[in-house]
Amino acid sequence: MITATGLTKRYGSTAAVDHLTFEVKPGIVTGFLGPNGAGKTTSMRLILGLDAATEGSVTINGQSYRDKKAPMQEVGALIDPSAVHGGRSAYHHLLWQAQAGSLPRQRVDDVLDMVGLTEVAGKKVG
Ligand SMILES: Nc1ncnc2c1ncn2[C@@H]1O[C@H](COP(=O)(O)OP(=O)(O)OP(=O)(O)O)[C@@H](O)[C@H]1O
Ligand SMILES: [Mg+2]
Repeated sequence: MITATGLTKRYGSTAAVDHLTFEVKPGIVTGFLGPNGAGKTTSMRLILGLDAATEGSVTINGQSYRDKKAPMQEVGALIDPSAVHGGRSAYHHLLWQAQAGSLPRQRVDDVLDMVGLTEVAGKKVG
């Protein structure tokens, strides 16, 4: 469960996120929509602890991302698809993440299968 309460981020006079309150429940796919500049990316950065909130808070399973001892065992994120190394395969992209996060190698095959990418897992993503 992701819980945002009065989440607010200001950059000078710009309110990028303005008192946002929501819950994302486990086991369902939740879309997060809004026009350009609505604050979607900023909200995700706040969820992941990449930016600090000006006001309010956000937790994942009751704890902030930064307080988690092994965050990658609970949270996966891809904010900027172009940040993925084009010369790396989907398998190797997930493998370094699994190794960095102390996840079992089997998890890589499991998620590739889950999203239907097993057949092309060895192709360079670029
Ligand atoms: N680092 C920053 N410094 C100053 N202003 C910022 C910064 N990051 C975002 N903003 C501003 O905050 C607002 C929200 O931006 P954000 O990138 O979160 O929107 P978005 O919903 O992800 O937009 P898009 O659909 O274009 O990706 C915008 O007005 C943006 O210009
Ligand atoms: Mg964005």
